[in-house]
Amino acid sequence: MSSLENLLGVTREKLRTWMDEAVEIDNYVESIVGGRSLWQLSRDKRPYLYAVVKAISPKLAVETGVGSGVSTTFILSALQEGELHSIDMGVRYGGEGEERVGFVVPENLRGKWHLHLGRSSEVLVPLLKQLEEIQFFLHDGEHSYQNVIFELSTAWNFMERGAIIIDNYNFTDAPRDFAKKAGVQLIQLSSTDGGLSLILKDRGPPATST
Ligand SMILES: C[S@@+](CC[C@H](N)C(=O)[O-])C[C@H]1O[C@@H](n2cnc3c(N)ncnc32)[C@H](O)[C@@H]1O
Repeated sequence: MSSLENLLGVTREKLRTWMDEAVEIDNYVESIVGGRSLWQLSRDKRPYLYAVVKAISPKLAVETGVGSGVSTTFILSALQEGELHSIDMGVRYGGEGEERVGFVVPENLRGKWHLHLGRSSEVLVPLLKQLEEIQFFLHDGEHSYQNVIFELSTAWNFMERGAIIIDNYNFTDAPRDFAKKAGVQLIQLSSTDGGLSLILKDRGPPATST
């Protein structure tokens, strides 16, 4: 299988730099989360999320499943000029009943962040119709077969070129079935904790370097 740098069309050095930057963001995130288990994206997966968003450099990114805001913080940190729209049902996180969805997201990143409260089955289609075209999508909300197929198919239809990342992709056959039907490769980024996978759409020939 091709290496991640080849798939993303970047140099190995660039990928290494991004992985190193992700460690710094992780230090910040862990200083807020403080070792609690909040169903956040596992630590080994975070550098991959950051590197893929860096490589794609989306103008518009969408995620489902904000939770405490770990994945949100990594996506926002990787965005250059783009914006992130996040969907979550809006339950409070942290166990003490005081911490809101996305409480980990630092103030200085919130200017390019839009939080939409509701179920993805109700919010995703109207949001994507409004955005018209996205370049990045992260699924980390409800992992049921039906919902994953719905989210991946919907995001795919509003993407010309870009990337989709699926957390806990091993929970059902939905990611594999979707990739098979779409005729694309489901690329495993991590195998731990339900796994993390990547689907690329029409990336074209690798860029010389970025
Ligand atoms: C595993 S947590 C997300 C963790 C987050 N990505 C992170 O790294 O911190 C799952 C989140 O998905 C939300 N969720 C579950 N089902 C949903 C649905 N059908 N629509 C929207 N959000 C949903 C929950 O409220 C919860 O906050």
